[in-house]
Amino acid sequence: MSGFDTSWLSLREPADRAARNPVLLRRLAAVLAEGERAPHVMDIGCGTGSTYRTLSARLPQATDWLLVDYDPALLGEASRLIGRPEVKTLQQDLTDLESLTLDGIDLLTASAFFDLCSLSFCEDLAARLAKHNVALYAALNYDGRIIWTNRHVLDIQIVRSFNRHQATDKGFGEALGPMATPHLKSVFQGLGYEVLTGDSPWRIGPGEEALHRAFVEGMVAPVLEMGDVDRASVESWRDQRLADIDQGGSCLVGHLDLLALPPR
Ligand SMILES: C[S@@+](CC[C@H](N)C(=O)[O-])C[C@H]1O[C@@H](n2cnc3c(N)ncnc32)[C@H](O)[C@@H]1O
Repeated sequence: MSGFDTSWLSLREPADRAARNPVLLRRLAAVLAEGERAPHVMDIGCGTGSTYRTLSARLPQATDWLLVDYDPALLGEASRLIGRPEVKTLQQDLTDLESLTLDGIDLLTASAFFDLCSLSFCEDLAARLAKHNVALYAALNYDGRIIWTNRHVLDIQIVRSFNRHQATDKGFGEALGPMATPHLKSVFQGLGYEVLTGDSPWRIGPGEEALHRAFVEGMVAPVLEMGDVDRASVESWRDQRLADIDQGGSCLVGHLDLLALPPR
């Protein structure tokens, strides 16, 4: 198990779909429509297939998909939800980049993934993509902003602590966390790619209480782990945040999308 359970991924999927930057989605669809053959797409850190479900209707119908993750339970759920045997899955630990075969791939996609990765992983991956002329669509990279409409005195400290935790090792070495998109941008520009970025924030309020609650509750353990704020204060902050949700409070969680197109 990866620690990303299916209920969390299904809770966040509608918010992710609504948040994805529309300008980048349109450009991506236009670029892939220009190709002489049906595009071959690899989605890494695919979870249960959220990126496939968002993109497949926008891309040419005959697009070939390969979904990659190291968690067999998530891959099984992806296959079950998608229900199309021609959509292939591959169980692979992406920390072993050498084993990832990119031959014939036109586009690599990922969502909510690169903030888990280190700079050296991104540099190695980018070099491999450039070698094979592969484009990258990296959506929903957390950017460090969490802003509630009704403020609490501890918000700033809690978010700062949460962001420090985002930069801890998630299996790839020290994670880029909120700095994932700026680093990806500079790495791909350095390789001659055209790079576009765009905002893709969650705006979660009335109607999305379950996601909002799970998000607030999910912040508690990482913040406690960092040890900057004492347990009683964190728990009191959480209780007041949950009460605010019951009273219709809303929240913005910042993300950035990135599209990197190889030089022609
Ligand atoms: C936040 S989830 C995002 C899942 C999916 N892309 C989505 O948007 O719903 C991160 C995903 O990365 C996968 N992952 C994390 N580390 C990995 C690794 N070393 N190798 C392969 N997959 C990994 C997890 O199993 C999980 O599915």
